[in-house]
This record gives sequence, structure tokens and C-alpha cells, in this order.
Amino acid sequence: MAKKVQDALKDIISLCKRRGFIFPGSEIYDGLANTWDYGPYGVELKRNIKNLWWKKFVTSRKDVVGLDSSILLNPNVWVASGHVGNFSDPLVDCLDCHERFRADHLLEDKLGEGCCAGKNFDEIHDMMVENKIECPTCGKINWTKPRAFNLMFRTEIGVIEGEGSKVYLRPETAQGIFVDFRNIVDNVRPRIPFGVGQIGKSFRNEITPGNFIFRTREFEQMELEFFCEPGTELDWYNFWRKYCFDWLVNDLSVNKEKLRLREHAKEELSHYSNGTTDVEYEFPFGWGELWGIASRTNFDLTQHQNQSKVKQEYIDPVQNKRYIPYVVEPSLGVERLLLVLLCDAYEVQKLENDERTVLHFDPKVAPVKVAVLPLVKKGQVKAKAEELYEKLLGRWNVEYDETQSIGKRYRRQDELGTPFCVTVDFDTVGEGESDPAKLGFVTVRERDSMKQELVKIDELEAYLAAKLGC
Ligand code: GAP
Repeated sequence: MAKKVQDALKDIISLCKRRGFIFPGSEIYDGLANTWDYGPYGVELKRNIKNLWWKKFVTSRKDVVGLDSSILLNPNVWVASGHVGNFSDPLVDCLDCHERFRADHLLEDKLGEGCCAGKNFDEIHDMMVENKIECPTCGKINWTKPRAFNLMFRTEIGVIEGEGSKVYLRPETAQGIFVDFRNIVDNVRPRIPFGVGQIGKSFRNEITPGNFIFRTREFEQMELEFFCEPGTELDWYNFWRKYCFDWLVNDLSVNKEKLRLREHAKEELSHYSNGTTDVEYEFPFGWGELWGIASRTNFDLTQHQNQSKVKQEYIDPVQNKRYIPYVVEPSLGVERLLLVLLCDAYEVQKLENDERTVLHFDPKVAPVKVAVLPLVKKGQVKAKAEELYEKLLGRWNVEYDETQSIGKRYRRQDELGTPFCVTVDFDTVGEGESDPAKLGFVTVRERDSMKQELVKIDELEAYLAAKLGC
């Protein structure tokens, strides 16, 4: 990873570790490169993302059902899908420092996205030579010819080592949906157009993982396969492009200025696709793919019909027509979206005599919704704060914090992206020289404006619900 990139991401990575969002994997054993564990706040963030996606793309839609298919599938699935034959990247070695890279990424860094579209390995090699592509590690120009490196992880099924049958860890969740298409149509009987959504782990033996959680070898995908009548697919493709983009901006509050739709040029399209768009985000290391939305024709179902000999036709009961449905696929990585939300929310704010780091998460996304803070950790103040905490805990993910000064506790919650802090003080409980007008009131502090408001305890839950919107 280039130094500039490390600098730009460094603070976010450090915040993630310091505040329990994301830890480097297997750290006590010196780690395992490019693996990450999601700590107490990271796991909440991930869960919120998945729940919000599931609601928007599956349960709130009359035309979508859900699925949870296996990670291990019959190897013929991957023969049919083309992954055994074609799911490879052009690998090059630097003959001086022996580092390995993806030739297409090196070229794209210099010539722009899509520059390798439709090129064979010889042509990619020529492009590396013509454009004098230097090794990012040692700066030399001394490359091997590109060779195909299949990205699928292989393992074995069976109890006797060496005698088991070879299987692959799925590199995408999508094929599980195609393989169950027949089951869903025959048993659940949805009418076309309909979609099947799935969330689950995928695995790719990436040549150059990196940029924190942007590209990893183990990740989760949220994929929708939307089946439609041939001839209607481009209308649905446009529908889903807008639906996805609007969800990011309107529901998750992602900054529109940092998002763009990049439509693939004709030469860049896979042979089976008649339209593909990437939703891209401007990460600290530049524009990168967040979400792929592809019109995949009837390629996958046709391939599975040919390979399995099981018919993948749909019989339209109204029009009395038979056809293999076309499919539009919005495919999104959970961790990619998580990284977008982190980068988008992250701000180091200069205050009058101070500075603060804050994550401006949309309340729906925020891992902790409310923090309850007693001004002191004793007497009636503590008892009232604990009582409030217990009450709110049933409804949202709420934190109770009585350590350190109130200012430090606010800063900690700012770094977690907690939208509201509720402070219980002497006035709330009428202890000591308190203001009788404030008896039964708590102070609610809003994260972004840092404005404080007195709210009656009896009205607190309704007040927070209205402000949080969840
Ligand atoms: N079924 C289509 C498919 O898998 P893809 O463009 O290879 O298409 C879809 O992947 C999405 O999955 C990407 O846009 C990205 O969000 C996520 N993704 C892919 N590879 C990833 C990796 N190595 N690490 C993290 N996320 C990844």
C-alpha cells in the first residue's frame, strides 16, 4: 500500500481499534495479514447495515423473498457459472523484489478504470511494457508475463485426508440463489417479476487485498437476483440502479457528492451482460467500487440448465409463455459499505479551545443509540441513571458510562457515533442545592450540534424515538 494511502486511512483504522470497532485478526499470534475481527461496536454496525438492507431489499418489498444457501456447493455449480474456467486475475511478479501484483490494477492506476477491458494476457503484458509500469514496492520495471490466478479457495470434503472430494468456498452468494431458483419457483410459487435476496460470507483468494477492509479474502455480500421477463430487464436495471443509489443517500445519509454511478463501457461488459453500473465512492485512497449492479441476461440459469440438465424455465400462467427469466443483480459488500459509512461519518472538528473526533452516523446506522451518563457515580443520581438505562435498554442499544469527567465521556460517545447522551444530575433528582424547576428533567446532548436540551423523564423515550427515527 502506498504511503499516502496509509496516511489517509491511518486515523480511521486507529479509531476503529481504539474504540472497539475493528481489530486486526489473530493479533496475539502476530496476526494474519488482511484479516479483521469486528469488535463490540463493529458487530453492531455490521448488524445494523445487514438489517437495514434486508428490510429495504427483502421484507419491505412484496416482490422479493429471502434465502440462506450453503457456502459449500457442488463443484459443478462453479463449472456452470464459469468460475472454474474464468474467475482469475492477471498475476505478475516483480523479478527484482519478488512482490506479486494484479497487472490490471497496476495499469488502471496509471491509465484509468476499464483500460484492460477485453484485453488478453499478451496485450496486458504489452501495455505494461509500453507504459513503463514500475513496481510499487521497488520502483523497477522487470515483470514476468501475466498468468491466470484463480481466486477460488479450495478445500476438501471427507474425513480421510487426501481422499476427500475437492470443493470450493463460494466466491459469491449469487450462485446459491440460481441453484435454488427451481425450488423457489416450484414450492413458493412467486410470480415474475420477483427477486431473491441473500446475505452471507464469500471468499476470494485476492492477489492484492488491502486498503483496510476494502478488499479482503473473507467478506460478506448482500445480493439480490431479480428475475424478470426477457425484454423488461433494462427497465428493471434502471429501476434498481436508482433504488440502490437513493437508499444510500436517503436512508443511510451517505454524502451524495462522494458517490457516483459509473456505467461500464461496451468493451468492459462481461459477455453475458447488457448493462453494468458500479456505484462508486470517493474513499481516502480514491474512487472505488462500492456496489455492482448488472443486467446478466439469462446467462446463469441457462448455464445451470445445461450443466444440471434440470429445466430452469418459468411458465407464465397469465400469458401462457415459457422462458428462462432474465436477471438483474445488485451486489454489495457488507464491509465495503461499512467502510463507506465510516469514511463518510469521520470528522476531526476544531473547536474553540479543543478538537474532537466524531462519527456522524445516521442514527439508524449508529451502533449505540443513546448513552446514559450520571454526573456522579453515587447516591440518587447514580440510582436514577441506572433506572433510566435499564428502561431504555429494552428498546435500543444503550450504554451506561460513569467513568471519568462528563466532557471525556461525551468525547468517547462522539467517537462511537452515539447520537444522544442523556445526563442525570443533582437537579434531576432534587439532591443538594438543586433547582426545583429542573426536578424530573434530564439533559439530552445531541452529537452533531452538541446542543443540550432539558427533557422531562416521562417524555424522554418518546423524545428519543422521534429524534432517532428508529
Ligand atoms: N455476484 C456478483 C459479484 O460478486 P463482484 O463485483 O465481484 O460481483 C460484488 O462483487 C460486491 O462485493 C463488490 O461491489 C464489493 O462491494 C464486494 N466485494 C467483492 N470482492 C470483495 C473483496 N475482496 N473484499 C470485500 N468486498 C468485496
